Amino acid sequence: MKKLVFLTGAGISAESGISTFRDSDGLWEKYPVEQVASIEGYYRDPALVIDFYNKRREQLLTTVPNEAHKLVAALDEHFDTTVVTQNVDDLHERAGSKHIIHLHGELMKATSSANPNDPRCIVSLTPDKLNIEIGDKAKDGSQLRPFIVWFGEAVPKMEEAAKAAMEADIFVIIGTSLNVYPAAGLVSYVPRDAQLYLIDPKPVKVPYGLDIHTIQKGATEGMRELMEILLAQQ
Ligand code: OAD
Repeated sequence: MKKLVFLTGAGISAESGISTFRDSDGLWEKYPVEQVASIEGYYRDPALVIDFYNKRREQLLTTVPNEAHKLVAALDEHFDTTVVTQNVDDLHERAGSKHIIHLHGELMKATSSANPNDPRCIVSLTPDKLNIEIGDKAKDGSQLRPFIVWFGEAVPKMEEAAKAAMEADIFVIIGTSLNVYPAAGLVSYVPRDAQLYLIDPKPVKVPYGLDIHTIQKGATEGMRELMEILLAQQ
């Protein structure tokens, strides 16, 4: 089976009603990114940051995977598929994808403020216990915090993601502005003879001047077109 690797960003969840970050009316226009998505912002005002992610988690419960997430999952049947996502939502999981690497963390999990990447401290949040409150403690006794990789923090899953990219026969980028590193640099690990595709309604500047097949469409329409191309090669 050929190895198919996706790199997804906020654009794939846009059709489920989740805001992107850098489009006009994106999240970073309403909330200063350094306040709610940096480790310094969290140290400065943990309550504000915890509340921001509590609200996003509540919103996530009201959303469902869209056709693009489902088409990505459907390709599991034809390819050895890995989904590397920058998204913190769980829509790829709910659509049925099996191998998912969350580069920027997971909204439905919480962890320790002292040791955020200690697996013993990472817990799942559920509809019964959805919100993190000030005073909630992780296993190591520190304040429980969202399991999100903030600016200024290491990206521990990058190594696993780079390994997947290095093994790709086909690499598909969907709905990311490729502004944030190291995620945006993942494409540089893809073998030179692999097929590269990009699905995004807007032009995206791909680093390293690579030869890429661009499908300038929204995620669902673009995935329908990609399915046809990939299944015709089978
Ligand atoms: P951005 O908001 O930077 O980019 C979203 C991309 O999705 C843009 O290229 C849009 O053109 C595209 N897009 C919009 N609607 C679309 C649709 N219907 N179908 C397909 N694409 C569409 O979001 P990301 O690149 O994902 O990190 O942002 C990367 C990281 O920056 C995020 O993971 C987040 C943020 O800071 C953290 O919070 C740690």
